[in-house]
Amino acid sequence: MKPLGPLRLGVNIDHVATVRNARGGDTPDPLRAARIAQEAGCDGITAHLREDRRHISDADIEGLMEVLNVPLNFEMAATEEMQKIALRHRPHAVCLVPEKREERTTEGGLEVAREENRLAHFIAPLRDAGCRVSIFIAADKRQIEAAHRIGAQVIELHSGAYCDAHHEGRIEDRDRELEALREMSGFAHGLGLEVHVGHGLTYETVQPVAAFPEVMELNIGHFLIGEAIFRGLQPAIAEMRRLMDDARG
Ligand code: PXP
Repeated sequence: MKPLGPLRLGVNIDHVATVRNARGGDTPDPLRAARIAQEAGCDGITAHLREDRRHISDADIEGLMEVLNVPLNFEMAATEEMQKIALRHRPHAVCLVPEKREERTTEGGLEVAREENRLAHFIAPLRDAGCRVSIFIAADKRQIEAAHRIGAQVIELHSGAYCDAHHEGRIEDRDRELEALREMSGFAHGLGLEVHVGHGLTYETVQPVAAFPEVMELNIGHFLIGEAIFRGLQPAIAEMRRLMDDARG
């Protein structure tokens, strides 16, 4: 199968804000990072407004809505507070993610199947406001079917388990996780969902995922912001773009 279309790169700028917040001042500025990412050829900016505001702030979201020329993918928990914020800004996309205060990062996908009714009601006004609704889930048929039933237009498959297994040298686990991502990308596309993948992707892990023909977008943050320390943000993103395009053929 040929790729369904060009593969988009969404750059997650959360961890520029993490570094800023470590000192409580204004630098480094996530908006400046977003501008550079745009210049480097990203197709979208992703930012997660966590309930505890540990990195991205409300003012960052406001600023991003003002300055961006590319779409904003607004990641948030499925809470009333976040729904209000999303409805006020009406970003291009809203990606629902699970959130636990004690976690260091988004550890797993959203349990859609267990909360179908609530989530169906939760996303309806977001869709009505013109946001594309995406759900961050594990590569699991039950979750994908539930995401489809509640009316999500997009799913983002969690690639953390695949990336962790790769970087820890657990080859069999890595291959099994990659196969699940491949198979579930095809399954979700068959249901009419647009498929994105994200979490933990690096130069070493991006290419097998980028080669899946049904995958339309990758969202990458932590590795790129870390790599930017050594090569600069623009070259770090440009190299990721090159690897993705190369894998896409
Ligand atoms: N996609 C989603 C839904 C996320 O929540 C995150 C960040 O946790 C990412 C992509 C980016 O992950 P990373 O920063 O590990 O590249």
